Amino acid sequence: MKQVIQTIAIPLFRNVTRFWFVVTYSGQLIFAYYILMLYYRSAALGDFEKWNTANPHFYIKGDVTGNLIFGIHVALAAVITILGPLQLVSKIRNKAPRIHRICGRIYIFSAFLISAAGLYLTWVRGSIGGPFSAISISINALIIIVSAFFAIKYAMQRNIKLHNQWAVHLLLAMSGVWLFRVFFMLWMLIHSAPVGFDPETFTGPFLSALGVFVYILPQAVVALYFSAKFSNSANKKLAFSLLLLVITIGIAVGTMGAILGMWLPRI
Ligand code: HEM
Repeated sequence: MKQVIQTIAIPLFRNVTRFWFVVTYSGQLIFAYYILMLYYRSAALGDFEKWNTANPHFYIKGDVTGNLIFGIHVALAAVITILGPLQLVSKIRNKAPRIHRICGRIYIFSAFLISAAGLYLTWVRGSIGGPFSAISISINALIIIVSAFFAIKYAMQRNIKLHNQWAVHLLLAMSGVWLFRVFFMLWMLIHSAPVGFDPETFTGPFLSALGVFVYILPQAVVALYFSAKFSNSANKKLAFSLLLLVITIGIAVGTMGAILGMWLPRI
């Protein structure tokens, strides 16, 4: 049995990680497509009222600052969603290091800016959901800022191992908003009704738990990933692979739900 685990652990770990990457990046590209088709397209056509498709307070007549910050926020959302996962592809890093560095600078700069804009939208303009949602997404912004700081710091010091680790923490933090939509739609698919939250106020225990699950918990999964990757223990690799497999299946189903129930109907 021990022999079997040792033989399968390393290839399983590699393949499940790849599977996670393909599922996640495909889902994020579709999210970016939604952002381009809804927000970029309507801005290009001067039809800003269309921004209110998802929520009636995204474009508010007369609130020039708020509208501008929302516009910058969603404009950056598409950029970071498309660029982020590509930074993890080792072929690009090795064959085109200049592209990796240029995209990295854009990504880090966007990480700071999208978080600052998000904090303004949450605390100054006021967002949907209660104070718990506002706090959990603000912690997400903080994790983004800290991870972006260390990712760039270690890149400049040419400490590639630590740079890579902080970059993965950053990518997962930057994926929090996307994960929120994916796991929200998975929940809706399972229950076929708004269970555990009030659809009018968008508050409730389920949404509070989801905030922690998608904005904070992925950081622990990243820590487990590196612990399994650098460990010689086949059991650790196997356990992490199974955990990631279950999470990825959830992501795949939730993404289908988000595409069909949320993103496509709005564009
Ligand atoms: C870094 C990755 C992020 C992405 C890709 C992203 C993406 C988006 C998108 C696409 C929207 C428009 C709503 C929709 O069509 O679904 C939006 C709205 C919003 N975002 Fe972000 N966002 C990110 C980070 C953040 C952060 C860190 C915060 C808070 C600190 C934040 C706060 C908000 C707020 C308040 C709104 C308006 C919606 C509301 O009123 O609840 N975002 N974001």
